[in-house]
Formats: sequence, C-alpha cells, structure tokens
Amino acid sequence: MRDSQFHFITPLENPNYHDLITGLANASWPEFMLHDPIADELWDNLYNLFPEFQFALLDYQNGRVAALANSLAIHWDGDENDLPEGGWDWVFRQAVEDHANGLPARTQCAIQIAIHPDYRSQGLSSSMVKHMRKIGQEKGFKRLIAPVRPNQKSHFPLIDIDHYITWKTAGDLPYDAWLRVHARVGARIVKACHQAMDIRGTRLEWEKWTGMKFPGSGEYVIDGGLVPMKMDVNLDLGIYIEPNVWTVHDLAS
Ligand SMILES: CC(C)(COP(=O)(O)OP(=O)(O)OC[C@H]1O[C@@H](n2cnc3c(N)ncnc32)[C@H](O)[C@@H]1OP(=O)(O)O)[C@@H](O)C(=O)NCCC(=O)NCCS
Repeated sequence: MRDSQFHFITPLENPNYHDLITGLANASWPEFMLHDPIADELWDNLYNLFPEFQFALLDYQNGRVAALANSLAIHWDGDENDLPEGGWDWVFRQAVEDHANGLPARTQCAIQIAIHPDYRSQGLSSSMVKHMRKIGQEKGFKRLIAPVRPNQKSHFPLIDIDHYITWKTAGDLPYDAWLRVHARVGARIVKACHQAMDIRGTRLEWEKWTGMKFPGSGEYVIDGGLVPMKMDVNLDLGIYIEPNVWTVHDLAS
C-alpha cells in the first residue's frame, strides 16, 4: 500500500466519515447480501457501541474511500472449536447483547472488509486485515476471530464448504483468495460455520435482488452466492443460508 496515497480514517476523527463511505458497501456486495435481517436490525450498533473498531481507507489523491472495515468485540473467550454454526449473525447479536448486559469485551471479531471494485486486485485487502488486527492488539485482545466469507466459493456453489476449505494452492495456502489473505497474515482456519447468514425473501424480492426468474420450486445458483438459494413458490419464500469459515488470528505475539 502506498502510504503517500492512502490513509486510514475513522468515524471518531473524521466528521465526514459517513458521507465518505456512503455507497461503498452497496458497490461491494451482491444485492441479496444487503438483506440479512440481523445486519438490517443491528448495523447502527457498530457505530454507536463500537466506534473505535471502525475504519476506512481514504485515497488522498481523489478524496474517495477505497476500502471499509468493521469489527466489534464480544465477551466470548472460549475454545475456538466450539465457535457456533451461526457465524456472522451469531457474533453480531452476541456483541450487542453482551454490551447491553455490561459484560466485558474479551475477543475482537471481524464483521466486514470491503474493497471498492475500482480498488480491487491492488493488494489493499491485507493492509486492511493488518490494521484491523492492530486495533485489537492496541486494545489488548488476545484473539481476532472472523467468520470469513470465502469469496471465491461463489465459483463453486455446488461444492460442500467443508471440502472447499481443504483445497490448497501449490504453496500449501488456502485455495480461496480471501482465506489466503487471512492465512498469510497469520490466521488459522478452524472450521466452517454452516449457517452464518440466513437471508429470506419472497419470489418477487429474489427476482429484484438477482435479476433472475424463479418459475418453479427448487435450488437455484445465484450470482455471487456461495451455495444455491432454495425457492418454494407455494410458500412464496426463497431461503439462502450462507456458510462462512471461522478463522482465528492470535494477536498476543
Ligand atoms: C475479498 C476482497 C476484500 C479482496 O480484496 P482485493 O483487493 O480484491 O484483493 P487483493 O488485491 O488484496 O488480493 C488478495 C488475494 O486475492 C487475489 N485476487 C485479487 N483479485 C483477484 C481476482 N480478480 N481473481 C482471483 N484472485 C484475485 C490476489 O491474487 C491475492 O491473493 P495472493 O496474494 O495469494 O495472490 C475484495 O475482493 C472485496 O471487497 N470483495 C467483496 C466483499 C468481500 O467479499 N469481502 C470479504 C468478506 S468480508
């Protein structure tokens, strides 16, 4: 990352932060991914309860935000093999509940890193992960856990996630590019979490979100989906259950 071009900004320091990041998430994700009910319900808590964990990368040459990162903290500090199937949805709800119950935060958890499409494939993502780790280290956390969305799984929606995460490159790193970024900066892949997000909509909503038609009940491969979406036209309900991958960064070293 060129330090002369890019600088980290935070919502606590930059009064224009929210204006600057507007549109980045929408540009980064397939539309259906913006309809997770837990995200819709809890998103503002990131900035209200955990503002010091949020940051973005500003391109000083043109004043645009190139990348966005969100994390938070939970009371959980247990055996990583026991991390739940609920992944992303679980950790977000847990963080908000722990905060409401006054429980001390003991583990940092990643929620999102998104690089604007105009800034992808320039190696910025590992700088974002490293900066997220730095925030956790400065707060004295021992671990950063992440329900990672293995982004290249969308090329293999019919492959079982437990099998997919065993795929390696010739250099014995994860086949998946985003898992590889985490592994290169020191993360361990623990296991898949099979119900990390639960996104539901009517047939009409799924048609709007995907630009596809769903003439009958069945499983549909959707653009950007890590697994197929199941449509039941009689119930007028399409369900997409996204699997992610629990990864753990040790921060103490
Ligand atoms: C996943 C994401 C963060 C990666 O950032 P990026 O800028 O595209 O990737 P980088 O340039 O930092 O490269 C990271 C790795 O991906 C690989 N990569 C980058 N672009 C790629 C492409 N178009 N096709 C295949 N691999 C690619 C790189 O080669 C690198 O792996 P390597 O170092 O082992 O070679 C970014 O694509 C993104 O924001 N996607 C949408 C949101 C998302 O999925 N976020 C992650 C889950 S929270």
